[in-house]
Amino acid sequence: MSFLDQIEPLKQSAIAEINASPSLAALDQARVTHLGANGKFTALLKQLGALPKEEKPAAGKLINVAKQELEAALTNRRADLELKESLPKESTDFSLPGRLRWLGKLHPLTQVTDDIVRSFRKIGFVVADGPEIEDEYHCFDALNTPADHPARDTQDTFYVGSPGRPLLRTHTSSVQIRVMEKQPPPIRIIVPGRVYRRDNADATHNPTFHQIEGLYVDKNVTVGDLKGTVEFVFKELLGSEVKLRFRPHYFSYTEPSLEIDFTSPMVKKMGKDWLEIAGCGMVHPKVFENVGYDPEVWSGWAFGFGIERIAMIRYNITDIRLFYENDTRFLSQF
Ligand code: DAH
Repeated sequence: MSFLDQIEPLKQSAIAEINASPSLAALDQARVTHLGANGKFTALLKQLGALPKEEKPAAGKLINVAKQELEAALTNRRADLELKESLPKESTDFSLPGRLRWLGKLHPLTQVTDDIVRSFRKIGFVVADGPEIEDEYHCFDALNTPADHPARDTQDTFYVGSPGRPLLRTHTSSVQIRVMEKQPPPIRIIVPGRVYRRDNADATHNPTFHQIEGLYVDKNVTVGDLKGTVEFVFKELLGSEVKLRFRPHYFSYTEPSLEIDFTSPMVKKMGKDWLEIAGCGMVHPKVFENVGYDPEVWSGWAFGFGIERIAMIRYNITDIRLFYENDTRFLSQF
């Protein structure tokens, strides 16, 4: 058979083999058989050199075209086979129900905080914020609590270095000062936030906890305004059967100062008559002077209470540490 006559049949049989390859491995085998170093087509190419000079151009052209056809057939078949192999081996059952995703929820302390904030917003209070790393001036001195004041011992905290002895704030009361320094009266703010004390953790204490501070400054503000406001919010929060009692106390930044006790059918069930929940009072004239307000013109009240305390009462929780353990069996109940 002449050289030229061999090309077409060889090409045909190679293309047939390529198109019939059942897998990528078989296809590769077909490629080696025909186009590999020792392949049939390669062997034909090698014979080209031995042809008479005048036959070479036509033969070379023909064999190159045939080789391109072979390579195109290989590429097409490879694409087909790759697609086939990437398809799922088993059919999909679209009637299967979807997988349920575990949805997180708000932490109980966040829920209580949000509820308190919502109640105060109804009566015109806005949320204010301040730094958790405070200076002694805003945490104590400006609140009429000088360095030698015994109240500083009961609010011992973590000092985080020098200069200026920055500390982790022991209460949200420091934000009263920061807000009054920045704006003139009237003021109606609440301040939810994290506070720190050098305490050992037990069922009712934790070195980190949360407070809500309130401050109201205007003309002719009275203790009656304070009582009415606090009572409104606690009834919203803990139910209408709640009763509050205001007891004289001492804080250096209020005069007079009071503590608020709380009772409800649940407190009675716990075998107690009253639970102490907050400190409050009429803003001390010294505090107004420290922020540049005239105490002869302005009057106001302030309070501060622990959010954990409220949450424990609301949800009947007996150990404060449960709030911080991140145990989803506990958290998922709220
Ligand atoms: N800062 C006090 C505490 O941490 C609570 C408090 C008492 C806040 C009286 C006040 C207040 O604003 O007037 O124990």
